[in-house]
Amino acid sequence: MSLEIIILAAGDGKRMKSAWPKVLHPIGGKPMLAHVIDTAMQLKPLNIHVVCGIHTEIIQNHLKEYLKDYPIHWVYQEKPLGTGHAVKCVLPFLKPDLKLDTQVLVLFGDVPLISAKTLKALQEKTMGHSLGLLSVNMPNPFGFGRVVRDASEEILEIIEEKDANTEQRAIQEIFTGILLSTTEALARWLPKLTCQNVQQEYYLTDIIRMASQEGHSVISTQTSDLYEVQGVNDRVQLITLERIYQESLAKEWLLKGVNIMDSKRIDIRGNFECGQDTCIDINVVFEGNNNLGRNCSIGPNCIIKNSILADNVVIHANSVLDGAVIASDCEIGPFARLRPETILDTHVKVGNFVEIKKTHISAYSKANHLSYLGDATIGEKVNIGAGTITCNYDGVNKHQTIIEEGAFIGSDTQLVAPVRVGKNATIGAGSTIRKNVPDNHLALNDSRQKIIAGWQRPVKKEK
Ligand code: UD1
Ligand code: CA
Repeated sequence: MSLEIIILAAGDGKRMKSAWPKVLHPIGGKPMLAHVIDTAMQLKPLNIHVVCGIHTEIIQNHLKEYLKDYPIHWVYQEKPLGTGHAVKCVLPFLKPDLKLDTQVLVLFGDVPLISAKTLKALQEKTMGHSLGLLSVNMPNPFGFGRVVRDASEEILEIIEEKDANTEQRAIQEIFTGILLSTTEALARWLPKLTCQNVQQEYYLTDIIRMASQEGHSVISTQTSDLYEVQGVNDRVQLITLERIYQESLAKEWLLKGVNIMDSKRIDIRGNFECGQDTCIDINVVFEGNNNLGRNCSIGPNCIIKNSILADNVVIHANSVLDGAVIASDCEIGPFARLRPETILDTHVKVGNFVEIKKTHISAYSKANHLSYLGDATIGEKVNIGAGTITCNYDGVNKHQTIIEEGAFIGSDTQLVAPVRVGKNATIGAGSTIRKNVPDNHLALNDSRQKIIAGWQRPVKKEK
């Protein structure tokens, strides 16, 4: 049986109090709608139709980054006249269903954590029937549509909170909004929807009554993981789901052998891979695509973005990495900042208050304190003294600094690029190097030290 999926995302999202469309607000760094589409893809549908309204263009543009190869069919709903109206907008685009064997699954773009497993269970149970829905039992069902059943537990209808009487409001079985039907049945029922209800909306839920009245039994499945069906209407609900999502990711990596010191104090926003026995201390934020090897150690309060770490890398507290590629056995920080195109070969040491950008440092080299290395190529076993600065920018262009293997750069050196320091060359402390230094030579700026005998420090005059 083939499947088409409809994702509703045209609602206003007023309660978010945001200029930004609701479904683009992120969970784990990824827009809610992208989560739903990813899950939908796991069901291998023929098509995914996303219904959007006034924000269609912003949503399409923003999602491009996340959905590179996904074929999404965008459907425009001019005004949000109700969930039934939204699904009706897709009707002309559903594949004609002559053999009556296409199922249509309706999902919400603002219910981001629904799982493929739950949806597959609904799909299986509804097989051969015209309608199935996902419901849950909620101790506090306020605001949701209630599932009304008859004495023999057959589903009769769904009544929205605002249309329900006192007796119906006491029902704790609620409709999650997720349902599965067939193209044929939807084509029959949707044109019959009216907006004669308290909210004057076209309710998709009215098709449940139609199915029941036609004598179909309406199938239902349940999930006990309430967060899966929790919708996001405001920012409190957004961060509630964010924390649930983060903690479940943390638990997943703990079970895979990563040592996360506190599952409540880690944030993984984006794609994350990590080898066994790597230890991640508290308050570490991962953004974008990160890949960590085995047996690494990440100190507290680090921010790691789009970086690759091989095995046995130690990152000390409060370091910020962005676009760094780090080979095994390197030691970084505390308080180091590695910017894009930083490449460190094995056993490199980068100490506190060192900033590195577009620089390749070869094995066993060190920059232990207070330096800026930008647009540089540094050979093996080089020692960069404290306060070394590559002056890479002349106000217009960036220039390269090359430091060859075994060189020793004394403290407080400025290397005015373009410049080359040869193999095993030595730079005396406090030098400004404007010309290339040949292999094995010593270069220093000869500003002689004066001694002034008997000099008196100024003193403050007393009033
Ligand atoms: C809906 C269900 C309710 C269920 C609840 C679960 C209906 C009538 N009611 O109510 O039974 O308990 O979900 O959360 O279906 N949307 C559109 N176009 C529209 C209207 C809505 O795309 O014209 C989208 C919204 O963006 C949202 C989703 O549909 O993603 C649900 O709409 P919403 O208004 O939040 O439905 P509820 O009133 O919560
Ligand atoms: Ca509504």
